[in-house]
Amino acid sequence: MSQERAADVSEAEIAVHWQEEDYVKPSEKFIAQANLTDRTVLERFSLDNFPDCFKEHADLLDWYRPWDTTLDTSKPPFWRWFVGGKINASYNCIDRHLAKHRNKTAIHFVPEAEQEAIQHVTYQELYVRVNEVAALLRDFCGLKRGDRVTLHMPMVAELPITMLACARLGVIHSQVFSGFSGKATADRIVDAESQVLITMDGYYRGGQLLDHKQKADVAVREAKKEGLSVDKVLVWQRHPGKYSSATPLVKGRDFIMNEVLSGYRRRTIDPVEMPAEDPLFLMYTSGTTGKPKGCQHSTGGYLSYVAGTSKYIQDIHPEDVYWCMADIGWITGHSYIVYGPLALAASSVVFEGLPTYPDAGRPWRIAEELGVNIFHTSPTAIRALRRAGPDEPRKYDHHFKHMTTVGEPIEPAVWRWYYDVVGKGEAVIVDTWWQTENGGFLCSTIPALHPMKPGSAGPGLPGIHPIIYDEVGNEIPPRSGRAGNICIQNPWPGGFQTIWRDPDRFVEQYYARYCKDRGSHDWRDWPYMAGDGALQAADGYYRILGRIDDVINVAGHRLGTKEIESASLLIEEVAEAAVVPARDEIKGTVPDLYVSLKPGLAASGAIRKRVEDSVIREIGPIARPRRVVIVPDMPKTRSGKIMRRVLRAISNDEDAGDISTLANPEVVDEIRKIKV
Ligand code: PRX
Repeated sequence: MSQERAADVSEAEIAVHWQEEDYVKPSEKFIAQANLTDRTVLERFSLDNFPDCFKEHADLLDWYRPWDTTLDTSKPPFWRWFVGGKINASYNCIDRHLAKHRNKTAIHFVPEAEQEAIQHVTYQELYVRVNEVAALLRDFCGLKRGDRVTLHMPMVAELPITMLACARLGVIHSQVFSGFSGKATADRIVDAESQVLITMDGYYRGGQLLDHKQKADVAVREAKKEGLSVDKVLVWQRHPGKYSSATPLVKGRDFIMNEVLSGYRRRTIDPVEMPAEDPLFLMYTSGTTGKPKGCQHSTGGYLSYVAGTSKYIQDIHPEDVYWCMADIGWITGHSYIVYGPLALAASSVVFEGLPTYPDAGRPWRIAEELGVNIFHTSPTAIRALRRAGPDEPRKYDHHFKHMTTVGEPIEPAVWRWYYDVVGKGEAVIVDTWWQTENGGFLCSTIPALHPMKPGSAGPGLPGIHPIIYDEVGNEIPPRSGRAGNICIQNPWPGGFQTIWRDPDRFVEQYYARYCKDRGSHDWRDWPYMAGDGALQAADGYYRILGRIDDVINVAGHRLGTKEIESASLLIEEVAEAAVVPARDEIKGTVPDLYVSLKPGLAASGAIRKRVEDSVIREIGPIARPRRVVIVPDMPKTRSGKIMRRVLRAISNDEDAGDISTLANPEVVDEIRKIKV
């Protein structure tokens, strides 16, 4: 659709034009240039051809040594991919592109402040900078293959540079989302046993320059309490002088990265030839307990899977300018800002700012200026942009061929706005369902082959074979439209290898429930349980219904209810805590926190504030409860169990259903009346 035409379409017309289950076909123009148009892919990736089909992904990469065994199943469910193969992720994302793409931009770094110049880091420059950092990490910090390093960095070009420097050496990076607190960072440092922390002095958020280094001081102090001593804190300096008094460097521990780097100018480091199964990184995510899980991702399998899905589902070609507006602190950013696009020699945008700051036109100005043609974001960002500036995209001359939505279910009306107004009717949309544990997409349409259906992710990707079970382990008939627990029948190369230092939890949490035979070495007996409810419609598309466990999805990010509850229980007056998801127009769901106090204490605003502060201190502002409700008593069963279902109904103004089994049914009305 041309710009003029797009500007003609009113919101009302869009609403009339679209019906609930409309399918939308990709344009001929898109199909003509798409990477994957061959329908035989579905057959090539059928279970009959498993696991060798995944060779197609691995062949997108350069290997030092080819693998002997595609899939080793000798220790279920600890699957091992491409065993015997040797590879380096940094080499594959940089060195191998130099001959053809040396002067091409690898990373467009867009600072939040519009007056600050965009940095265009070419592949050659990336090579130089990554080598220098790798030399520093090796020679100044003494880091070597298998060591862990925690990164707590904002969205700046130095983040992928640091990750790729680690990968060059075989050092396992663990990037913690910059919005997480010092305490949350400490928990992850301790679990990973990292002796080096890499951070940054400060970064912009909504026009405010945040002092980020102070979180490193908290993290090191808190880690020490747990018996883990961080030897070195490397601070990337972007705003020299600004924080020198607020957060002085600790002598012998803290170093300004930029200064130390001057001793490593033009140094080059040969990439370490890594066994395919050596870990590339850890990514912590929330689970059902208070302790985050370190998902351990491999080098060869992971990189193969993200390269394959970037090429075939994101439709990335080397000449594309690709922008995934996620944060590298989450798995989406690792796979689809850094490793996938760079493995394919694309130009990838790293954006420091917020989508709606200073106004809802910012993303479209960036897209227009850089010629972005592939755009990837979350329903939360789309909802926020739609509310703040429904007509804004029409004012800009940006043109996307492809757009992605990820992280949470998208309402059909929001999908339609994304398609008609952001994509101007020209772009295909893929709704990709997957998780931190999975490395890359699990369900999505193949953009040139499948029609899109608003609100549905799509079929399993080539090589991914979902199955839905009911509570007791019976298979729900395929295409029946009946909801159950979605599992994946087969392993795939992007799947995480284990939970760092907790292999038992890995088995129990993801495999135990639907395992057919714990003594079996056949992968068919070990379906992977995703933890999401889903249904498969008659057309074979999956619709994801949300988490079935104590995890809530806030703005596409996972938060464990137990983590928030534990944080509130640190406040002395609090006796019990329960967190439930409340519907939110922009963020999908947000946490509502209910607390009861110890006997004899009265509710007060001061206690509520201290509870909220504790959550922010322990986890970060992302976990800030929508409301902290101090209740006279929790709704409980006769055996004393808190009925979260009832609290959830209260939070969402719904009928609480049958409450006759409660020991204290009268409390339901009392809680409903509390105004916060
Ligand atoms: O509930 C699903 C939801 O996000 C969860 C995974 O969260 P996380 O590990 O943080 O990874 C997010 C980005 C990959 C899933 O269990 N989810 C993810 N993608 C979708 C989704 N829900 C509906 N539709 C999606 N496309």
